[in-house]
Amino acid sequence: MNSSSNVPLDILILAAGLGTRMKSRQAKVLHNLDGRPLISHVYRIARALEPRQVYFVVGHQAEKVAAVVRSESGSAQPNFVTQAKQLGTGDAVMSAKEVLREVESTLLILSGDVPLIRLETLQALLSKHIEANNAATILSVRMDPPTGYGRIVRDSDGRFLRIAEEKDASEDERQIREINSGIYCFATAKLFRALERVQPVNQQGEYYLTDVPAILLEDGERVAAHLHHNAREVAGINTRAELAEFENYVRRSNIRRLMIEAGVTFIDPSHAYISGDAQIGRDTVIHPGVQVEGASIVGENCELRAGVRLTNSKIGDNVLIKDHCVVVDSQIDSNCSVGPFAHLRMSSELQEGSAVGNFVELKKSKLGRGSKSMHLTYLGDATIGEKSNIGAGTITCNYDGKQKHETVIGDNVKIGSDTMLVAPVQIGSRSVTGAGSVVTRDVPPDSLVVGVPAIIKKTLGERNDEGEK
Ligand code: UD1
Ligand code: CA
Repeated sequence: MNSSSNVPLDILILAAGLGTRMKSRQAKVLHNLDGRPLISHVYRIARALEPRQVYFVVGHQAEKVAAVVRSESGSAQPNFVTQAKQLGTGDAVMSAKEVLREVESTLLILSGDVPLIRLETLQALLSKHIEANNAATILSVRMDPPTGYGRIVRDSDGRFLRIAEEKDASEDERQIREINSGIYCFATAKLFRALERVQPVNQQGEYYLTDVPAILLEDGERVAAHLHHNAREVAGINTRAELAEFENYVRRSNIRRLMIEAGVTFIDPSHAYISGDAQIGRDTVIHPGVQVEGASIVGENCELRAGVRLTNSKIGDNVLIKDHCVVVDSQIDSNCSVGPFAHLRMSSELQEGSAVGNFVELKKSKLGRGSKSMHLTYLGDATIGEKSNIGAGTITCNYDGKQKHETVIGDNVKIGSDTMLVAPVQIGSRSVTGAGSVVTRDVPPDSLVVGVPAIIKKTLGERNDEGEK
C-alpha cells in the first residue's frame, strides 16, 4: 500500500461510543449486519489494507468488543486502547496518544459504525493523502438529506476550511450537502499535536476530532477533503431503523450478485436472506424464506424449499432440502434429500445419496451412502453404514443422565419402527431389529433381535461373527 511513500500505515478504529440512539443494552458496534458485528466488517476492511498496526479505541463494553475483534484476528495482533469516559471523538483518538503520539506514520481513522466502506475507496483516499503530502485528508460525500452529519465548509474557491457539526452549524452551513464521512487520514504526530488544542466548546460539550483539520490549517499545514461519489458506502449506522436499511441493502446486493454472477435462481429475491460469505452454485433454486448464514457452501442444481435455514454448512450438488429444515455446522453430500422438517446439527453428515425425512434430528451423527431415515427419528452420536434403513420412530438413547454414548450401525441394517437403541450399542451389518424392540446389548451381524429388552431371535444367512448357528 505504501510503496509510494516510506511512511508506514497504521489504522485506528473508533469503537468506544455508547450508541445511545440504538436504545440498546448492547454496544452499537456489536449489533449484527449480514450476520456479523459491525466492528467485524470494519476490521476486515482494515486488515485488507495490510497496515503495520490496527488500534481499536474501546470503552463501552470494552471486553466484549475486544473479544469479538480477537476472535477474528487470526495471527494478527490487534491493539486496544481504552477511552474511560466517552467525551467525544477527539477524546477517543487522544486515548491512543501514549502509543501513537510520537509515531511517524499515516494514521487512517475509521468509525466502528461505518461498515460498508470499500477497500478501493480507502486506497484512493490514502493515495490522495500521500501524493498531496497532506497533514489531514477527509473523506467526504454528498448526502441528501445531510441530517446528522458534520458539514464540509469550503471557501469561495472551493478550498476546505473546516467541519461544522450539525448541532453547531449556522442556518447556511446546514444547507451544505457535502458531509464528513468520519473517515480520515492524518500525519500521525501532527494529529496528536493539534488534538492537544481541541476544546469542548460546542453544543455537545464534547472534544470533536472534527476540529482538528481547521487547527492544522491555522498552522499552515495542508488539509483537503476528498469527495467520494458513493454516499451509501460511508453512511453511518446510528439507529435501528438505519441498521435495518443497511441489512436490506446488503442482502439485496448479495442476492443480486448470486443471480447475476453465479446463476442462482431466486423464486422471490425479496424474501431470501443470504450471507455475504456464502457461496451457491449454478442452477440452484432458492425458495422464499430461505436463510443461508455464515460461510455456507451450496453446490449446483440444488433446491432449497421454503423456510430452510443453513448455517456454516456444506451442501453438495443435486441436493433437495424440503420445507422448514435447519442445518447447522453440518455436511450434506451430493444427491441427498432432506426434510421436510428435519434438523441436522453439530457436525452431522449425510453421505452421497442418503436421505432423511419428516421430523428427523441428527446430532453429531453420520448417515452412510444410500442409507435412509425417513420419519420421526432422533440419531445422536450415531454412525450408520451404507444402505441401511432406520425405521419410523427410532431413537438412539444416547444420554444416560450423565454421559453421552455412541451408537454404531453397520451396512444393510434394517432398524424396525420404534426401536430404542440404548447406547453404547452396536448393530452388526445386515441385522434386523423388530418393531418396538429396546436394544440394550450389541447385536452381531446377520441377526434378528426382538423384544424388550431385545434378544436374538435367530441368525440370518450363513455367516455369524459370534459363531452361532
Ligand atoms: C461523527 C462526526 C461527524 C460525521 C459522522 C460520520 C464528530 C464530532 N462528528 O459524528 O462529523 O459526519 O461522525 O459518521 O466526530 N466514539 C468513541 N468515543 C466517543 C465518541 C464516539 O469511540 O467518545 C466512536 C463511536 O463509537 C463511533 C464513532 O466514534 O464509532 C463516531 O461517533 P458518533 O457519536 O457516532 O459520531 P457522529 O455523531 O455520528
Ligand atoms: Ca455515527
